[in-house]
Amino acid sequence: MGFLFSVPLRNEKIMIMTFKKISLFLIAALTTCSIQAQQVQLIPEPSALQIGNGSFKLPNAISIQVSTAFEEIGKSIHTRLNAVTGKKAVLSNQKNATIRFEQVQDNILGKEGYQLIVNEKGIHVKAQTYAGALYAWQSILQLCPPAIYGNQIDKQINWAIPYVQISDVPRFEWRGFMMDVSRHFFTVAEVKKMMDEMAMYKLNRLHFHLTDDNGWRVEIKALPKLTEVGAWRVNRIGKWHNITKPALEEPKTYGGFYTQEDIKELVAYAKTKNIEIMPEIDVPGHSMAFLAAYPQLSTTPNYPYQVNAGDDFIDWSGMNGHITAKIDNNLDPSKKEVYEKLDIIFGELATLFPFEYMHMGGDETAKNNWEKSEDVKALMLKENLKNQDEVQSYFVRRVEKIMQSKGKKLMGWDEILEGGLAPEAAVMSWRGIKGGAEAAKQKHPVVMSPSSHNYLDYYQGEATAEGAVYAGLRMKKTYSFEPVPEGVDEKYILGNQGNLWSEQLQNIRNLEYMAWPRLMAIAEVAWSPKSSKDWNKFAKKVEGHFAILDTLKIKYAKSIYDPIVTTTLNTKGEYFANMEGEVAGLDFYYTIDESMPDNYSNHYSGPVSIPEDVTVMRVISYQNGKPIGKLLNIPMSSLKQRAVKVL
Ligand code: ACM
Repeated sequence: MGFLFSVPLRNEKIMIMTFKKISLFLIAALTTCSIQAQQVQLIPEPSALQIGNGSFKLPNAISIQVSTAFEEIGKSIHTRLNAVTGKKAVLSNQKNATIRFEQVQDNILGKEGYQLIVNEKGIHVKAQTYAGALYAWQSILQLCPPAIYGNQIDKQINWAIPYVQISDVPRFEWRGFMMDVSRHFFTVAEVKKMMDEMAMYKLNRLHFHLTDDNGWRVEIKALPKLTEVGAWRVNRIGKWHNITKPALEEPKTYGGFYTQEDIKELVAYAKTKNIEIMPEIDVPGHSMAFLAAYPQLSTTPNYPYQVNAGDDFIDWSGMNGHITAKIDNNLDPSKKEVYEKLDIIFGELATLFPFEYMHMGGDETAKNNWEKSEDVKALMLKENLKNQDEVQSYFVRRVEKIMQSKGKKLMGWDEILEGGLAPEAAVMSWRGIKGGAEAAKQKHPVVMSPSSHNYLDYYQGEATAEGAVYAGLRMKKTYSFEPVPEGVDEKYILGNQGNLWSEQLQNIRNLEYMAWPRLMAIAEVAWSPKSSKDWNKFAKKVEGHFAILDTLKIKYAKSIYDPIVTTTLNTKGEYFANMEGEVAGLDFYYTIDESMPDNYSNHYSGPVSIPEDVTVMRVISYQNGKPIGKLLNIPMSSLKQRAVKVL
């Protein structure tokens, strides 16, 4: 300011202008200095990370030098930096380039690992493989300001990257995401988008649930009816299993399928993202779409089959023992034609998907129609099968032989253990971890995806504020999962996977809302060392990543800001509500008088007495004095329903 007064004042106007200019200059300078480089908040947490003091500011001219094997990554870096930083990035052969990706021989880095050093000289990556280089680039992106993911140049941003030294390898080779494209269909572009999002978090297996009762989604050239008939159903919107049963003559306007050219395109795209796609053909149950095309493959060939539109046809009440199908949705294991058709289907798929595994489903087979079938009874006599589980096991063994004849390995849901596991089968454990543990003890490979921790179709927050699905699952619980059960040899556990069933997911934005941010927890459990597990640190990082998802316009749930609301009922018949934060640093404000809460309402500090006549409890979360998350309106009926009796 002293400088200002020493300027000779020719007139007041000049003085004011000079003052304005200098002030703007000072503000700009101070702002630039005060913007810190992006915090280090890598998801998944690297296996070894050291954070240095300071950050590397991207220069105005950025040179990028990559080994031949990493050329595609070099191009991505070049495109991204030019798209958003306002700096001039060029691909170069210079040995002292600003950004260097070097292919090295270093077995410690393995098939997917990388080393990343950011210091005053620039950014230097070492990797043995394309996958390692790809993941190094993902880490660099996460170290940049979130605007790196954007699509417009922003020169105001301090394009600086914190000094780090990272040496990073995955804990598990299988870091999976299952996408159900049968219940609702997603386009090739949407599947690619999900693969982009998977790769950001170093997920590398896309389990593609291609068939179910509600749609057959892959072209099989020798069996065109599978998609002509099986890919289409009556269009209904509503709560799954409560949908009005369509009449046979109603037009079937909802559906779609992937042509074999589409599949080739997806497989090629997956390769660029280090993703293997595993196709699933869900048999012998979940086969209504298959049977709509070929009713003769069921035990009730005269039934007028159509692709199920979400209407109820199974009595699930015997879930853990026996479920009962009111319409038989099973293939008939006694029919030669069933195996002939499966041979054609898996044969064509084997040529399309290079991955070593194919998935045959095997879950939730209602056996009541097999029990009634004379043909199945004859099969049991002939093959000495003592019960329906052994019938299913017989079926699975035959499917395994078909897959092996195509050079593939079989994977199935954990029901394939029942009646005896096929000789080489891998198991995907979904009904808890018991099946996985049992299969691993029998020395079979296992992927863990228990519904208790890894089912992404379950809502993430307060039940009364979320969509209609089967159950709830907080991200904290997903994060707490340990894929290797006690007493099991880790070498049989291939990894961890999140499953996203799409019964209630009409479009890609709904799908993303269910996936994120929980898929980050699946990814960190699958990639990071067990010893680095730290929920509070992870939750903070997730909050930071919301800015990335916002920049990419990816829909996600902010349910971590919803309190976990539980209630108790004491012996005097009094209800009390309790609230717990999933993440630290939240304040909960509530009303029970029907008014809308804000930060002047009751501040939650302990159990809230809920008098009998209350109709609704409303809750809003605040963080740093600002409302955040959803307004919860929890009806008294729901508070009562969830009450735990205390003595
Ligand atoms: C499953 O959730 N039925 C595998």
